[in-house]
Amino acid sequence: MSQEKYYISTPIYYPSSNLHIGHTYCTVMADAMARFKRLQGYDVMFLTGTDEHGQKIQKIADEHGTTPQAYVDEVVGGIKELWKTMEISYDDFIRTTEERHVRRVQEIFKKMYEKGDIYKGEYEGWYCTPCEAFWTETQVTDGLCPDCGRPVEKAKEEAYFFRLSKYQDRLIELFETNPEFLQPESRRNEMLSFCRQGLEDLCISRSSFDWGIPVPIDEKHVIYVWLDALSNYITALGYPDDPEKYDRYWPADVHLVGKEIVRFHSIIWPAMLMSIELPLPKQVLGHGWILLEGGKMSKSRGNIVDPVKLIERYGVDALKYFLLREYTFGQDGLYTNEVMLNRINSDLANDLGNLVSRTASMIEKYNGGIVPGAGSEEGPDAELKALALATAGKVSAHMDQFSFSLALEDIWTLVRRTNKYIDETSPWILAKNEEDKGRLNTVLHNLAESLRIISVLIYPFMHTTSTKIRKQMGLWFADPQWADAGVFDVMDGEQVKKGDAIFPRLDIEKELEELEAMQGGAPQKEYAPMKPEIQYEDFDKIDLRVGEIIKAEKHPKADKLLVFQVKMGNETRQIISGVAASFKPEECVGRKVIIVANLAPRKLRGLESKGMLLFADNGDKLEFVSTEAPDGETVS
Ligand code: MSP
Repeated sequence: MSQEKYYISTPIYYPSSNLHIGHTYCTVMADAMARFKRLQGYDVMFLTGTDEHGQKIQKIADEHGTTPQAYVDEVVGGIKELWKTMEISYDDFIRTTEERHVRRVQEIFKKMYEKGDIYKGEYEGWYCTPCEAFWTETQVTDGLCPDCGRPVEKAKEEAYFFRLSKYQDRLIELFETNPEFLQPESRRNEMLSFCRQGLEDLCISRSSFDWGIPVPIDEKHVIYVWLDALSNYITALGYPDDPEKYDRYWPADVHLVGKEIVRFHSIIWPAMLMSIELPLPKQVLGHGWILLEGGKMSKSRGNIVDPVKLIERYGVDALKYFLLREYTFGQDGLYTNEVMLNRINSDLANDLGNLVSRTASMIEKYNGGIVPGAGSEEGPDAELKALALATAGKVSAHMDQFSFSLALEDIWTLVRRTNKYIDETSPWILAKNEEDKGRLNTVLHNLAESLRIISVLIYPFMHTTSTKIRKQMGLWFADPQWADAGVFDVMDGEQVKKGDAIFPRLDIEKELEELEAMQGGAPQKEYAPMKPEIQYEDFDKIDLRVGEIIKAEKHPKADKLLVFQVKMGNETRQIISGVAASFKPEECVGRKVIIVANLAPRKLRGLESKGMLLFADNGDKLEFVSTEAPDGETVS
């Protein structure tokens, strides 16, 4: 096989819930690149998939009262359906629960172990007993579990570690000598200074839960989910036992990843590959996030944009075009319905849609639907032709930089220039005089040629639209080749047949209203999942009392904590709560509160807290749960 290969991957997505428009962004970019490279004649391997193990998935499945496998099977089914709807042209979809992956990850672990890069040690972290979860120092705030808000305690477990520190110097050298390896530049600098600060060995096994790939040399442990997930890029190629695809496609040309997982891909993954003595991927590219006005999209905050709803209304190509044209690779960008609708209307319905319908209908009307041959060059012909022929080169150069937006901007420069050409040459006037027939034919020919070139150029980004245009222009007989965008004057005699508008014009006001009603803020909010059922006796063990806050002050050693003196009948006790973000100390004095009164005392940053105060969650802020009952009384 002498054809040049190109291997591109997306991250493998967590099937914790359905994917939103942010996730589709990366896959749409990878798809456009894969299609672009195929069009240029490369033998492309485009890999995506799902990252199905780990504590988080196990917990969600528990909350849904199902097994992790059944849970992920359902979500993954939905993800595959989404990619089908979005016409994503992946060559393989790897699931980390597949036998091919599990077996190969164990082989990779063994190789690292045999190399002497894995040793047994002790993992120390913050442990939440009810959640059976370990948390790191940064995940825990004020001694409370980030998931359930209950106190965590320091605990140790036996675990396996990867000698990441051993590879620190080679990683620094990689970033210093090969700036292309990680882009954008800002991420490279970040990772370089992260390595220079010193890399610690990485804990790569867990024994506090079991939803994972068993450590091959010690089945009490499961392999850390990131070691498991990162391996997908080679297990999908058959490494190590079925090397045909591996030999053909590895090293990957590009791992496309979101900015927050660049560290895993540019430090841990290369170190793993160094350990098993495999070549490194050629490039890791970190893209920015699509944000909403309120910040990050998150299912629990109820502010996600569902791509399926947009596709149902505007079509796949409109969504793909919008994502690729609107956002600059490597930077965060804001999503609003208005920006999207304006893009669709101005670029697709107006610019491209008009060009297609005007060109097809004029060829039908003035030349019986037949594309005429070229006559002599006049007026703006040369300029149009030169621009049409130069655009493919510009698009290629932008695509080399993953600048999808600039590539599309250049294509639309040609679309607009061609529309302007119609206005400049006024074919409807030429059609009035028989002696202008030659000139009219040349104009129609040039329009058809320009549109043909446009249909080739847009093919990687919106192949369905390209195909629709090609059908209208009588070019239905062959899929385009990239080289077709580098020639002019090849059409003569094609049968044109005008079709429906490729992008109907939208009434923006009306669409905005309907989209807002559909996405409607409040109804989509998801509330915290219900905790597992308890028995009456369990609840009866809790002694809830009314108290009155008589003094409140900031904790001297923790910004987020308030220290309360609470009068509860005949006693006054000190209770510490993590509520400083919601209340000023002075506004708490005199407030009635409900206390979990028989909770064992514990120390929070050196001060004793005896009991817990109850508050209601109001989004970003907490609220008092109020009562008029006198302090000391029971709550039942
Ligand atoms: N499972 C890991 C990746 C393992 S790869 C070996 C993971 N999964 S994820 O589902 O949480 O995220 C997958 C990708 O989606 C990430 O690259 C992330 O940046 C991207 N996005 C999630 N939300 C996004 C936006 N709002 N905007 C753009 N991309 C976003 O991390």
